[in-house]
Amino acid sequence: MAALAQTDWSTVQTPVFTVDVARMDANIAATAAIFAEAGVSLRPHFKTSKCVQVAQRQRAAGAIGFTCSTPAEVRELTAAGFTGLLWAHQPVGPGKVEFVVEMAAGLTIIVDSFAVAEPISQAATAAGVTVGYLLDIDTGQGRTGVLPANALAVQNQLKTLPGIELRGVITHEGQLAGYLGDRSALDIAGTDVGARLAAVAAELGAAGHECAIVSVGSTPGMRSAPFAEGVTEGRPGTYVYFDGNQTALGSCEIGQCASSVVTRVVSVNRDGSAIIDAGSKAMSADSISKMKGAGTLVNLDGSPVSDLQFIETNEEHGFLAGSGTDRLKVGDLLRVIPHHACGTTNMWSKLLAVHPDGHTEEWPIVGRH
Ligand SMILES: Cc1ncc(COP(=O)(O)O)c(C=O)c1O
Repeated sequence: MAALAQTDWSTVQTPVFTVDVARMDANIAATAAIFAEAGVSLRPHFKTSKCVQVAQRQRAAGAIGFTCSTPAEVRELTAAGFTGLLWAHQPVGPGKVEFVVEMAAGLTIIVDSFAVAEPISQAATAAGVTVGYLLDIDTGQGRTGVLPANALAVQNQLKTLPGIELRGVITHEGQLAGYLGDRSALDIAGTDVGARLAAVAAELGAAGHECAIVSVGSTPGMRSAPFAEGVTEGRPGTYVYFDGNQTALGSCEIGQCASSVVTRVVSVNRDGSAIIDAGSKAMSADSISKMKGAGTLVNLDGSPVSDLQFIETNEEHGFLAGSGTDRLKVGDLLRVIPHHACGTTNMWSKLLAVHPDGHTEEWPIVGRH
């Protein structure tokens, strides 16, 4: 019996963002084992949980540090005593350059051009600090990053800047979501990403730019990219909860999804329809995997609900359709597995951690802005 079915919901106001602690701990342990098998370090992305209590469990399972997407995440983890922090976003514009210089002693950043690096070099030199960076490589996502063929030329330019120091190379293989429906092609592409990043590191090393860190990072790619020769670390984030998107991509089973929104039926006045109290402000339907609807409905015990579909949202209302609406009554409880775990986290200021015996604890979600 799943933990959420053991919980007494009679006094719990809905909607509420929950995490099944046993499932999360299983995801943490299984991923730590994958990285141990690959012989590669794990620096999970904090954006998925934004929760110190979750990060502590990841660290206890061997995470060497954390990847962050914003200064706020870096600040929260630093204040909580975490080390080995990587801010994996281009630090451009007011506030961010100052932040990098202030945090230089405990932070590695990423850059993908001279234009990004020059203001940091100037500020670091003026402050008398050295900022460590990874050169961001575009291995196919087409977002930030230098194309592999241009990496050496860009690094040769960066080398002329004082106050900054190369620590390695990084890529985010977000393009793997494009292999929806063909998991073996996804795995081959993931291994290829790792190999191409390692080849860039080798080319830079041969030219005198030593790359101690060769960092890949994604949940779809965590069983492939870290296994390529020369990769030193991986940065999956979503794995800690998994979500509907990762289920569709073949990264997990629905039964491994640890985060969900518990919701109540609030209106059943029309045949073939029911309304719940969880809408677009309760969860992210952001879909990298062409998932339909607003989320996947399951019962409190995690069993599937195949005769109900979550078809649409208003802000605080969810629209359910399907033959199962006939049996629903006002007050009935359901759970929604979000399509996108990380976007859902960012909508909540706390989560309800549900322990295996059903007892619950509130854990703060931090660094949202
Ligand atoms: C730079 C970077 N690293 C790691 C990750 C983690 O990837 P995933 O969400 O697939 O776990 C992301 C996700 O967006 C990212 O942008």
